[in-house]
Amino acid sequence: MQIVTLQNSQVNISEIENIFLDTSSIQSFKSKHEKYNFIDKWLTPYLENWPELVYLALHQNGSVMGYLTGCKCSLSAKDELSPRIASYLTFDEYFAEYPAHLHVNVLSSFQGQGLGKILIQSFISDLQKQTVKGLHAITSADSANISFYKKLGFQVVSQKLYKKWTLLLMGQYLFSN
Ligand SMILES: CC(C)(COP(=O)(O)OP(=O)(O)OC[C@H]1O[C@@H](n2cnc3c(N)ncnc32)[C@H](O)[C@@H]1OP(=O)(O)O)[C@@H](O)C(=O)NCCC(=O)NCCS
Repeated sequence: MQIVTLQNSQVNISEIENIFLDTSSIQSFKSKHEKYNFIDKWLTPYLENWPELVYLALHQNGSVMGYLTGCKCSLSAKDELSPRIASYLTFDEYFAEYPAHLHVNVLSSFQGQGLGKILIQSFISDLQKQTVKGLHAITSADSANISFYKKLGFQVVSQKLYKKWTLLLMGQYLFSN
């Protein structure tokens, strides 16, 4: 297994899209248009704007087993992301304390093998080199990934209702002082 960034790889974007669709909370779409809108909302802006913060876990045969899409400064990314992700500003008062954010997805057939953990550790290590002070992820209150994030040092910082969903902001500081 090898971790590379999208910027330094020849990977076909469709592999990343397939992992996104394999692991996403929505599994059926009314049309192809709806499906591609979903990808354009949650995945494409990260691939296009911050390819150096897209971490890929590559199998020895070169295929992608999982990926992390990151953003170093959620506040600066506001103009890019908030028009696409309607809930983006729900927790914006925490962007100063936990500037970076991430999404992480591992193909179901490779889950539970430590890939998600290695992807997050790779992102954290780069953020620390750049002295980014904190990191957050947004999830929902009923999601199985809460335990995963807790194991990786995140804590529940805030909980809010967005439409019919209870969202959690899970954050961690990257420096102790
Ligand atoms: C969440 C996800 C990224 C975890 O990736 P993974 O490669 O399966 O996780 P890892 O194997 O690296 O697990 C790291 C640690 O978290 C724990 N963990 C992982 N998923 C867990 C779960 N659902 N419940 C409890 N603990 C969990 C593991 O046991 C492991 O603990 P350890 O270090 O003590 O052994 C993956 O399950 C996934 O893609 N899920 C669907 C999409 C998703 O929810 N993404 C996150 C929201 S954006």
